[in-house]
Amino acid sequence: MSDLKPAARPANPRFSSGPCAKNPTYNLNQLADAPLGRSHRASVGKAKLARAIEQTRSILGVPADYRIGIVPASDTGAVEMAMWTMLGCRPVEMLAWESFGEGWVTDAVKQLKLDATVRVADYGQIVDFAEVDFDRDVVFTWNGTTSGVRVPSGDAIPADRDGLTICDATSAAFAMDLPWDKLDVTTFSWQKVLGGEAAHGMLILSPRAVARLESFTPDRPLPKIFRLTKGGKLIEGIFKGETINTPSMLAVEDYLVALDWAESIGGLEGLIARADANAAAVRDFIAGKDWIADLAEDPATASTTSVCLRFTDPAIKDGAAFAKAVAKRLEAEGVALDAGSYRDAPPGLRIWCGSTVESTDVAALMPWIEWAYRAELAAQE
Ligand SMILES: Cc1ncc(COP(=O)(O)O)c(C=O)c1O
Repeated sequence: MSDLKPAARPANPRFSSGPCAKNPTYNLNQLADAPLGRSHRASVGKAKLARAIEQTRSILGVPADYRIGIVPASDTGAVEMAMWTMLGCRPVEMLAWESFGEGWVTDAVKQLKLDATVRVADYGQIVDFAEVDFDRDVVFTWNGTTSGVRVPSGDAIPADRDGLTICDATSAAFAMDLPWDKLDVTTFSWQKVLGGEAAHGMLILSPRAVARLESFTPDRPLPKIFRLTKGGKLIEGIFKGETINTPSMLAVEDYLVALDWAESIGGLEGLIARADANAAAVRDFIAGKDWIADLAEDPATASTTSVCLRFTDPAIKDGAAFAKAVAKRLEAEGVALDAGSYRDAPPGLRIWCGSTVESTDVAALMPWIEWAYRAELAAQE
């Protein structure tokens, strides 16, 4: 039985949660217009950077009075830039339900030594937003990439809050609706839902976030790559494509190609529909099976990008070794690359279902998961 391999294979076995698969029409020749060897401050480079910002705005529906900046050090750079420049003038609530959120807790508590209330939920669960005091500054991750648990909507965030909300949306942006009126700082990186290149982060600021930057000077040294103000005023150029330091114009071109593809499939609506269909293909497959389950306990909070699965068969002896071996079999068959769960997460599989992935590939992978599970179970005996 375990040797009966499924007949079909995914055309693209790339299910990594970052860097994520390129879009299905991607071709390196599309980068031919990159202004290589030119200054990013020359008009050609500046125009590319400005287009990346404005196309991001139009696809994501970011309000006209929000600033969008391209910053160094990917999503991590964008989140830490916000934390280091904005936090400290009022108490902070740190919300985490998986490893990236926990990383921001460490930043707040151990590095910044802030007056912080920490709310942590186990993998598979989410913190209770009803308990959160949004008159404090609140830092959270929209989609927990390593647990497959996401915020269901912005409804629990009051519109008339006094604090700022700082949201790491790196595995949510472009695949999920983000309520801009509830988010003061939103960050993501190019390498996730659009399958772009790593290295640069996006930092989106509400007018209230800008007001914070202009009214609050934190009592801590800030490296040059974190500095968003000069003489108490926002450095507006950063939000027009005058980056703090040198960006990769190849990565910028790649992002522009990704944005064009996003528009070609219907913009945000098309992107969300693709991720939703991919996640549904996984969940349709696991429904009713007694040996595999969603790590996300509540379907309302189940991610549509980083879908995390755990094996539930009591016959499995060593859960971590088993999950690792299954992922190895999938990789060896060339049907799923990088589909093991994150190193700090409970053992299992993580199938990236973001918008660049084809639902036919997700569907083709599913019987292979059953095959690998049965093969590994037999090997364990
Ligand atoms: C939720 C979340 N935050 C932060 C990061 C770090 O992103 P980067 O490596 O682009 O800085 C990741 C990467 O997977 C992530 O999923």
